[in-house]
Amino acid sequence: MAVTQEELYSGLDLELSWSERALPEHVRTKHVHRLHPYHGKFIPQLVEVLLDRYLPPGGHVLDPFAGSGTTLVQALESGMDVTGAEVAAFNCLLMRVKTAHYDLEALSDELHDVCSRLASLTTKTRPNGYLRRWYSPTAAKQLLAFRDQADSDVLRVILSRAARSARRAAHFDLEAPSEPMTGEYWCHKHRRTCRPVESANGFLRRYALDTLARIEEFAAVRSDRVARVLHGDSRTIEYEHVFAGVLTSPPYPGLIDYHEQHRYAYELLGLEERRDLELGKETRKAALEDYCEGIAQALANAASALAPGAPVLIVVNDRRDLYPAILERAGLRLEGRLRRHVNRRTGRRAGEYFEDVLVARQ
Ligand SMILES: C[S@@+](CC[C@H](N)C(=O)[O-])C[C@H]1O[C@@H](n2cnc3c(N)ncnc32)[C@H](O)[C@@H]1O
Repeated sequence: MAVTQEELYSGLDLELSWSERALPEHVRTKHVHRLHPYHGKFIPQLVEVLLDRYLPPGGHVLDPFAGSGTTLVQALESGMDVTGAEVAAFNCLLMRVKTAHYDLEALSDELHDVCSRLASLTTKTRPNGYLRRWYSPTAAKQLLAFRDQADSDVLRVILSRAARSARRAAHFDLEAPSEPMTGEYWCHKHRRTCRPVESANGFLRRYALDTLARIEEFAAVRSDRVARVLHGDSRTIEYEHVFAGVLTSPPYPGLIDYHEQHRYAYELLGLEERRDLELGKETRKAALEDYCEGIAQALANAASALAPGAPVLIVVNDRRDLYPAILERAGLRLEGRLRRHVNRRTGRRAGEYFEDVLVARQ
């Protein structure tokens, strides 16, 4: 574990702290990366550079905390096979939609057809307590009517994205609203008085067409390599392949509740919840100990499926300095650390934010 300062920062020649001008938002959220909001993802360009630098061309890469699938999408774009393990069912649905192969003509027909029928869709399902609280009666009815005929994963993701936008949440508080807005309010984002959303059909139409455009854009740059999504706990999941490397960003204690951020999707789609298996939800002392043990188990499990000498790349802002001990527990040796200045993009100095890419091997 003892590494010299020089060894630790040996990869600093890699420029990972892009400015906003070098990497504007539309490039960071290119094609399917913006298919659905997901708080806590890493940027595709970071994945691209790391795959290029550390993984053999055409290799099979593993992400044991795959989230919204940034590693999976970029691996496909870089001509690699890829496997992602993830405990949250909604994230798995989103990854399947991002990485599937499509008959683009059939997809276009399906989405244009549903857009043309939106106004006439009906439902007999009564909204549950959650829907009654967070949506206007009209929006709840429209979302349920769409849900009743959403027989494909793509339609389910479009429904979820529209459900997020149609909540009675303040425009400046869409990430994690705690209370619904029931009347007019002063909107800090738009600097005017805004009203809660009354209808969902406009969002359903807009996102159906945007989804089609994004999938078409990705189809033009993706390779024919295979992406596999495994729904389960990465501490115990059984991998059936030998991987050329791991690239991942694990959850960090107390930052994001990954099930809760997509609550509307679980409520509407009836997805199975595995909240008890999600790592990093708490910061009490005992919870931090469980976190370290859990991440170490997941990394050791991933490492057991690696080719000899394969790299394990971990993107993390380890402000509690937990990772040296976690790596040791997982039987991994820290070989280098690349530091990335995240705020440089926006030029904000206050609240300087750095994250590290830990490079480890068995
Ligand atoms: C920081 S996020 C990964 C984001 C990803 N790099 C991206 O760009 O979308 C961490 C992910 O780990 C998942 N996770 C938490 N505990 C897990 C477990 N025990 N097994 C598998 N995944 C887990 C969370 O649901 C979350 O999606």
